[in-house]
Amino acid sequence: MPALERMPEEHVYQAYGIYLLTSQHRLIRRLKRVYEPSIHGNKAWKASFLLMDYLLHHPPRVRSRAMELGCGWGPGAVFCARRFKVKMTGLDMDKNVFPYLEVLAALNDVEVTAEEANFNNLSAERLGREYMLIGSDICFWDSMVKPLFKVFERAMTSGVKRIVLTDPGRPTFYELADLCAKREWRTTLTEWYATEPSRSTGEVLEVRP
Ligand SMILES: C[S@@+](CC[C@H](N)C(=O)[O-])C[C@H]1O[C@@H](n2cnc3c(N)ncnc32)[C@H](O)[C@@H]1O
Repeated sequence: MPALERMPEEHVYQAYGIYLLTSQHRLIRRLKRVYEPSIHGNKAWKASFLLMDYLLHHPPRVRSRAMELGCGWGPGAVFCARRFKVKMTGLDMDKNVFPYLEVLAALNDVEVTAEEANFNNLSAERLGREYMLIGSDICFWDSMVKPLFKVFERAMTSGVKRIVLTDPGRPTFYELADLCAKREWRTTLTEWYATEPSRSTGEVLEVRP
């Protein structure tokens, strides 16, 4: 267990070495008045803590380039930038998440490049600029499964070395994992748990060429 660290102010909490804010925090309350995320990018989702824990055990290459797909507030991106000095891009199709990403990045003293795009439209050339793709809780509708699988296909042919996605364990996520398992890629689906900021469980899908 890590040493107990007092938080500098109310509604700030810590997980896996990064600082996060609850929706009650004064900065978040202020941002909410102006920027209203519309596709669930309204907090750091629990699956992001699974991603952090998993990456501590299976670390990315230090100072490599990576992209967080459907980053929302970007907890995974901020964690990778902070812990592994990964040059992170946080990609989301909802531009209203980016002010929150910026606040979290600043709070943790890291840079994360924001990119507004639909991940389903990313070209093989764009994906191929990344060493790794990460994502947490981005496969929650039936309509997301096949397009996301196609993103994986383009990524695997364009030189991406790893894709790591986490999820609480929705049927859609298992469907995506099944599609990946049928390909010649090295696919693992692992039940995982996180202990910070509180215990949570879910699944990790890792795909390598
Ligand atoms: C449930 S939130 C998860 C946010 C963050 N990954 C986390 O774990 O805290 C899903 C995020 O994916 C984004 N998103 C959903 N579909 C997307 C797409 N096709 N392209 C880019 N972003 C997308 C949403 O805008 C939202 O920010």
